[in-house]
Amino acid sequence: MLARVLICGGLVLSATGAQNYDVLIDGDEIAALGTPGYFESVKPTCDRVLDASGKYVIPGGVDVHTHMELPFGGTNASDTFETGTIAAAFGGTTSIVDFAVQRTGEDVHDGLAAWHENADGNCAIDYGFHQIIGGVDDAALKAMADLTNSEGVTSFKLFMAYPGVFYSDDGQILRAMQTAADLGATIMMHAENGPAIDVLVAQALERGETDPRYHSLTRPVELEEEATHRAIMLAKVTKAPLYIVHVSSSDAVETIARARGLGANVFAETCPQYLYLSLEEHLSKPGFEGAAYVCSTPLRSRAEGHQESLWRALRTNDVSVVSTDHCPFCMKDQKELGLGNFSKIPNGIGSVEHRMDLLYQGVVTGEITLSRWVELASTTPARMFGLYPRKGVIAPGSDADIVIYDPKGTTDISVKTHHMNMDHSAFEGTHIDGRVVTVLSRGRIVVENNTFTGAVGHGKFLRRGLSQYLV
Ligand code: URP
Ligand code: ZN
Ligand code: ZN
Repeated sequence: MLARVLICGGLVLSATGAQNYDVLIDGDEIAALGTPGYFESVKPTCDRVLDASGKYVIPGGVDVHTHMELPFGGTNASDTFETGTIAAAFGGTTSIVDFAVQRTGEDVHDGLAAWHENADGNCAIDYGFHQIIGGVDDAALKAMADLTNSEGVTSFKLFMAYPGVFYSDDGQILRAMQTAADLGATIMMHAENGPAIDVLVAQALERGETDPRYHSLTRPVELEEEATHRAIMLAKVTKAPLYIVHVSSSDAVETIARARGLGANVFAETCPQYLYLSLEEHLSKPGFEGAAYVCSTPLRSRAEGHQESLWRALRTNDVSVVSTDHCPFCMKDQKELGLGNFSKIPNGIGSVEHRMDLLYQGVVTGEITLSRWVELASTTPARMFGLYPRKGVIAPGSDADIVIYDPKGTTDISVKTHHMNMDHSAFEGTHIDGRVVTVLSRGRIVVENNTFTGAVGHGKFLRRGLSQYLV
């Protein structure tokens, strides 16, 4: 383990600007920032000096929506905590927040314990947990208090979709929100009207509409907007902080923007797939190819302008986080479960390795600024989920989670080169202007020269505080 590392000559980026600084790291933490050359005298005492000339030095990415090993759709997400966190590190993400699972009839504490068992000793980068509450009852509500107050798990995902799996009805949502409001905890909402979707799905299948693209056609934007609005109203009644996950449509964005304009504690994330992939070009690929793009909320029609709306919302802060919703399934034996019936295709896309690069393309194309890139991918997720200033910023005392990023480098995304445990890539062939060069996790160099130099087990569990955005 290196004790002292100096990063010289780079442009240090933050959510508020960019400045030429040298960064001195001592052990796990950032010791100091100095003007270029300031640490010349301590250079001989350093174990490593990294030359970042011509490169960006950014706080490590924080991906607050991943599903390693999730049992879902009759199978399990194909990345383990080991493979998924190594892949994340390759892409410049140094913290993830994954979802522990509780289903109806199960004990929330057991669900959390199972997730600790999956992750403990297996992660290459630091990790925290949200808790899925799939069965809101008295015991689950009591457990929400235990998790928030004693376990460092301060956010709870509820589902308005997937009846019979994770679904909560409005009464259950109301009760969970009342509990969250009392605790100051955040409710994360999968906002789609599941019972209505299930009817549309059954009707489509009866008509013989079985191809992957019907996944999107049976989950219309109206049913995302309606659920988003309902969740916001329930949050208003209960005063619970609300974070809408995987927002995909301009309709939902408008509903969120209106609530935020009225001062509500309502926040939202989107994901790379909604910014770049579409119903026409991806989900409608011939044969069964579209199955690779089945996720929920679904990919939308490019022609309807949802992507423009999402990029705009990332600029206006109506959507303030970009996470991946990394939920990988292989085509073979997994997505194939839905051959001849789109409703049986396991829902999810894996992209934990590519979020930083894909979002950086928004800088290259002029959609967002450099600072906004850092803010959306690192600083805001850290603040939103109680990890700041330990994560999300390059400052004295913060964990030395740092990425050296080369804006003149390039990356070509492919299943042939990625590190995720998937037999395909939803972003196959995408050319990235930019490249992750070196990645440090708590002072340790974990990726260098396109090689993993870290250690499985290096990643530690992150006990999180409450959201730092509540008014
Ligand atoms: O398709 C998705 N999003 N799969 C993961 C589960 C979820 O709803 O986030
Ligand atoms: Zn979801
Ligand atoms: Zn998810």
